[in-house]
Amino acid sequence: MEKKTILSGVQATGNLTLGNYLGALNNWVEMQEEYNCYYMIADLHTLTIRNDPETLRKNTLELIALYVAAGLDPEKNTIFVQSHVPAHTQLSWVLNCYTYMGELNRMTQFKDKASKHADNINSGLFTYPVLMAADILLYNADLVPVGEDQRQHLEITRDIAERFNSIYGETFKIPDAYIGKIGARIMGLQNPTAKMSKSAPDPMDKILLTDTADDIRKKFKKAVTDSENCVRYDRESKPGVSNLMGIYGIIKNKTMEEIEEEFKGQGYGNFKTAVAEAVVERLEPIQEKYNKLIENPDKIKEIYEKGDKKANEKANNLIKEVYEKIGLIK
Ligand code: TRP
Repeated sequence: MEKKTILSGVQATGNLTLGNYLGALNNWVEMQEEYNCYYMIADLHTLTIRNDPETLRKNTLELIALYVAAGLDPEKNTIFVQSHVPAHTQLSWVLNCYTYMGELNRMTQFKDKASKHADNINSGLFTYPVLMAADILLYNADLVPVGEDQRQHLEITRDIAERFNSIYGETFKIPDAYIGKIGARIMGLQNPTAKMSKSAPDPMDKILLTDTADDIRKKFKKAVTDSENCVRYDRESKPGVSNLMGIYGIIKNKTMEEIEEEFKGQGYGNFKTAVAEAVVERLEPIQEKYNKLIENPDKIKEIYEKGDKKANEKANNLIKEVYEKIGLIK
């Protein structure tokens, strides 16, 4: 049987967090044997906010290094840069003409981002989901691993694909969301009811993948818990402790019951130390590999050029088919 295709991407905005790693990258690494995977650096998507050009270049290279350091094998996966595959922007324009303003108006992320960047509500921000649809549909992806915040974008991708298919015949595969393991949604350490975000202003709220061991220990020590002083899983009334349990559970491959048992009768001090050490231990080899790679830009270039080539081959076939179907001449 042919392997199913997976496509996903992360925006090149720098500073990935433990949340990005445990919620995304870590799962991707587990999927690389079973699926035919395309992992993209979504550099075009970052243009919806103002970037310093030099910083964007740096973030892009760092993200590629991080993909590989986290365990994505460039031989097994297609690791590529979105802007290096022109078919993304080409298909995006076409799909824009098959997407309604009303649909885009319903996107909660647009409303959210528009309110946060009230001085720069550009049309790219509005049509962001259409570019994302192009990303996914170009590769006939069967599955798209996305977090809760991207669900609506996957829904609109399916709607656009179905609309196009119903006019021009079977062209795009209708993708499904790939739901990761439970607990994969990592929350902030200071504000455990909101997702751990790389853009959070409080550095204590997030663990960056490039944090030193001491920083990591300090941040877990200061993590918000509650006054019960009992390691018990309850997302509703104990969001802080439950989040720490989630982190520990993914890294140690333990269920919440097992963790409750392990720390029975112990206070939060021991527990927090254990979580911090688990994270330090997991991130150390990744950081080592990352630091080596980041000093070798030629190697990084070799990795993405190889991926770009494979991605272009695949995407060009599809854009040709689309152009032909809609009536653009050869
Ligand atoms: N919008 C996604 C995010 O911010 C990144 C992204 C761009 C993406 N294109 C994609 C994710 C295609 C999955 C598939 O997280």
